[in-house]
Parts: sequence; C-alpha cells; structure tokens
Amino acid sequence: MSGPAPDRDVLTPLASGEDLRHEASLRPRTLPEFVGQGRVVDNLAVFLEAARRRGKPPDHVLLAGPPGLGKTSLAHIIAAELGSRLHMTSGPAIERPGDLAALLTHLEPGDVLFVDEIHRLGTIVEEVLYPAMEDFGLDLTIGQGPGARSVRIDLPPFTLVGATTRSGLLSAPLRDRFGIVERLEFYPPVDLQTIVQRATGRLGVRVDDDAAAEIATRGRGTPRVALRLLRRIRDFADVETGGHVDLALARRALERLGVDGLGLDGLDRRLLALIVENYGGGPVGLGTLAAALGEEPDTLEEVSEPFLIQIGLLERTPRGRCATERARRHLGFEPGRGPSLFP
Ligand SMILES: Nc1ncnc2c1ncn2[C@@H]1O[C@H](COP(=O)(O)OP(=O)(O)OP(=O)(O)O)[C@@H](O)[C@H]1O
Ligand SMILES: [Mg+2]
Repeated sequence: MSGPAPDRDVLTPLASGEDLRHEASLRPRTLPEFVGQGRVVDNLAVFLEAARRRGKPPDHVLLAGPPGLGKTSLAHIIAAELGSRLHMTSGPAIERPGDLAALLTHLEPGDVLFVDEIHRLGTIVEEVLYPAMEDFGLDLTIGQGPGARSVRIDLPPFTLVGATTRSGLLSAPLRDRFGIVERLEFYPPVDLQTIVQRATGRLGVRVDDDAAAEIATRGRGTPRVALRLLRRIRDFADVETGGHVDLALARRALERLGVDGLGLDGLDRRLLALIVENYGGGPVGLGTLAAALGEEPDTLEEVSEPFLIQIGLLERTPRGRCATERARRHLGFEPGRGPSLFP
C-alpha cells in the first residue's frame, strides 16, 4: 500500500508519513542486502542474471504480500540490479487509458515500470495494459463514431513490476501476463533481528543483541514495524541512556509504547476481543466485524487478518471468522467458557 496512513498505532504495518521519510534511507539497495525471503531472492537473482546474459529485459514481475514486507524495496532493487531506470506509479493514480499511454510512451528500452497497488487498476486501463505487457504494443483509438480508427504504437521492451497486498483481487487475465510471481511472507524473528541490527548504524544507536531480538519478536513479522519500534526505542535511549539500548531499556520502552508481546496492534486486539466477547468466538462475517469496528472490510482483510492467521489467533472458515483458543488466552479471557465455541 502506498500513501501515508494516520499515525494511529506504533504497530500498524501501514506506512505513516514519518515511516516514508525514514524508509528511503533504510531501504536495502541490492539483492544481497535484502534480508530473508530466501526463495524469492534466489529466484529473482536467477531471473535477473538470465535476462542480463540474454541482453533482454526480464519477464514482468508480480510481488504479492502484506504491507511493509519489502515489495517497493524489491522493485527498486530489480531496477538497480538491471542498471535500469525505475518509473513509479500506482493503480489508483492511473485513472484513464491516456494516463497509462503517457507513462508507457515515455519508457526507454529496458526501463522498469513499477505499478504499486496494481489490483486497483480500472478494467479499461487494464485492457490497454495487456498488449503492452504481451508484445510491447499500444492500441490507440483515434476519433469517435464511424470515423474512429485504431492505430498501434510500438513500445520499447520494458519490465513491469506490479505490487499488490491483495493478489486475490487481481483479474485472471492480468495475473496471467506476469511471467514471474513471487509472494512475500512474514519474517521470522531472526530475520527481523538482522534488519534491526543493520539499521542501528544509520540511526546512530547502539543495540545489544538480546534487545534487538526482543524488538524483532514484537515486530509483527514486518520490517516496517520493527524499524519503527527501533526508532521509538532510540528516543527513549537518547533521553535515558545516552543512546544505548539494552534489554531492560528495550522492554521498558516497549511497555511504555503499549506494544503487545506478540506484536498485535490495537485494531488486532479489538478485532479478536469483539469475536470472543460478542460472537462467542465466531464464526462471524467480515462485513459484520468491519461495521462493528468502524473499519473498511478491506483493511481488516489486508492489514489485520494475514498476521493473525499466520500466528494462529484467527481462522477463516466458510461461515466466517473464528478466534482461536490461543487468541482467547492471549487476550486474558477466562478459560472454560465452553471449548465448543472455539475451533
Ligand atoms: N528484506 C528486507 N531487508 C531489509 N529491510 C527491509 C526488508 N524489507 C523491507 N525492509 C524495510 O522495510 C521498509 C518497508 O518496506 P517496503 O516499503 O519495501 O514495503 P512494501 O511491501 O512496499 O509495503 P507497502 O505494501 O506498504 O507498500 C523499508 O523501508 C525497508 O527499509
Ligand atoms: Mg510499497
């Protein structure tokens, strides 16, 4: 997702304005600098090397996965590794076919066009994109009514890199036109710890290993969140210990920030508590939950649910969402409220 989110929560995976200001300097610049996601990185290394040897741009790349896991960073890296220029835009920014035509006709051979939130492209724009992706052609209609005619413009070969937090919403014809589809997963704590440790130099803060591990455990599997926690903890360290983060300071700061031991944010907790308290643990429909929480169903599905499912607190069933026994324990609900209520 792009566009700043309100700074409502220190644990939200959505980017705030403050995150965006820091992220440019903290982004990994090469594939080896990109921590974790081994399978994705290895695959991309092969595809990029093959393209370089052939002297042709690689196939179009689709990067899917929850917010803050490194899709935009990878798009930058792909262009850098190819020695190509990167043009950045997003699905919602391309309103009309003419907007897309303008972007495409400005490409130079080998350029990378990054389309963030590509699942939000309109149907008519998408149809212009198909021939561009398939055989680097742009079909334009000139004039209107019976006199209208179609002309084809040849485009230079380019690589489209699409990013989406909702690959399920991508139309099948668009998805089929990506030769390379890679899915980013939440990071295990050891990878987040490395990411935190590598950022300390640039942030001018000293962090003990066990403190970095603690931040990583609470980072919601998401580099953006772990790095944000590190910046906030740095504030405490600057004031209290002259810029040194040991485990005690990290824990104290995380507590002051209201950060949950599992890395849940306020919305995650409200969502689970609602299911447990008002719906007997579920199942309950997404629309009902969204209305009760005053959130968009999309936000719940895109931002909250993937992590909760990943750590075993939430289940999606055909009849709706269920909170697991583990969720109930984590929220501190009394045991024995009837196990039948929980899957
Ligand atoms: N594998 C990684 N190694 C090191 N840092 C990373 C990694 N992945 C992400 N980051 C850091 O996390 C921040 C967020 O990453 P990025 O903007 O690429 O995520 P995104 O998937 O594009 O998020 P969104 O869905 O919100 O657009 C970046 O500033 C970057 O510093
Ligand atoms: Mg992004």
